[in-house]
Amino acid sequence: MECLETLVRPNVSSMTPYSCARDEYKGKDGIFLDANENPFGNLNRYPDPYQEELKSGISKIKGVPSENIFLGNGSDEIIDLTFRIFCNPGVDKALTFTPTYGMYQVSAAANDVEMIRVPLTEKFNIKFSDLRSHLDDKNLKLILVCSPNNPTGNKMRRSVLDKMIGGFRGIVLLDEAYIDFTDEPSFAGYLYKYPNLIVMQTFSKAWGMASVRVGMAFASAPIIQYFNKMKPPYNISTLNQKTVLKKINSQAAVRNEVRKIVNERERLFAGLKQIPVILHIYRSDANFILVKSINADKIYNSLVDSGIIIRNRSSMIENCLRITVGTRSENNKLLKALKSIRL
Ligand SMILES: Cc1ncc(COP(=O)(O)O)c(C=O)c1O
Repeated sequence: MECLETLVRPNVSSMTPYSCARDEYKGKDGIFLDANENPFGNLNRYPDPYQEELKSGISKIKGVPSENIFLGNGSDEIIDLTFRIFCNPGVDKALTFTPTYGMYQVSAAANDVEMIRVPLTEKFNIKFSDLRSHLDDKNLKLILVCSPNNPTGNKMRRSVLDKMIGGFRGIVLLDEAYIDFTDEPSFAGYLYKYPNLIVMQTFSKAWGMASVRVGMAFASAPIIQYFNKMKPPYNISTLNQKTVLKKINSQAAVRNEVRKIVNERERLFAGLKQIPVILHIYRSDANFILVKSINADKIYNSLVDSGIIIRNRSSMIENCLRITVGTRSENNKLLKALKSIRL
């Protein structure tokens, strides 16, 4: 990896971050007349800008020190900040493997960064030889890789990820949004080995808190400091910090839900095999299943008519549909509706 200072955009390196009232005085007691808050009510105070209590809770469950954790307003904020910290608009490039999560491309475009799109193989794996020639491009600053991948559902081979992270001068953002649905250990345990790695996870999937909008990034302390420098001062509301903190204290219930979802995924997989209009079901390490069908548009519309909404991914992979694993009864209704479709 290149030295971090040379990877960061010069304007980011030299800028002075906003210093908020809560940066200047960190005590909890006193008469607070420093932040132009309203003295009345119980939601009148600004949140803790660095979410220290929440990070300390996350640190315990993830085994990652607080100084290596950044929290974003959803993972989507973390993706955008990564572009803004490392990629000079109109000059630098990013790379991803397609098909994948659409926000990488959207964030690249919003930041005027060219995205190199390397196709995954037929089985949706990364072929290192397809990547190798790009690694020498001096303007390539950032690689975004999703494992398990959305919308294909498979995890990427560990040996390839190791080779890619270890062999790249720039930053690798590894999106592990769906890691809790696999037995695969997180790369967050390997930050000591890879100073160029940012591992991203979220409370939106296994933790069941998509409406709360809290995403996590795990990285070296210097990278985390750049995230802190660039973020809006109060990016996670007090209400959201408290909600997540409460949830991480009920880890056993979350594990139980994840187990149920994984069991349902396998039951749904077996059920989908019986559906004549479905031609292929891809193995999934996530909480959704990708299927190849005879006529995805017709199947999609027919399910909508039955009040069941899935995701038509035909624009990415021909005639493919992505089905999120629901409750047992929702999955049964889906299977029944699919069985009745005649094309
Ligand atoms: C791969 C991947 N990363 C990130 C996200 C978004 O996560 P968040 O809700 O934390 O913004 C999604 C949402 O579908 C996703 O599929």
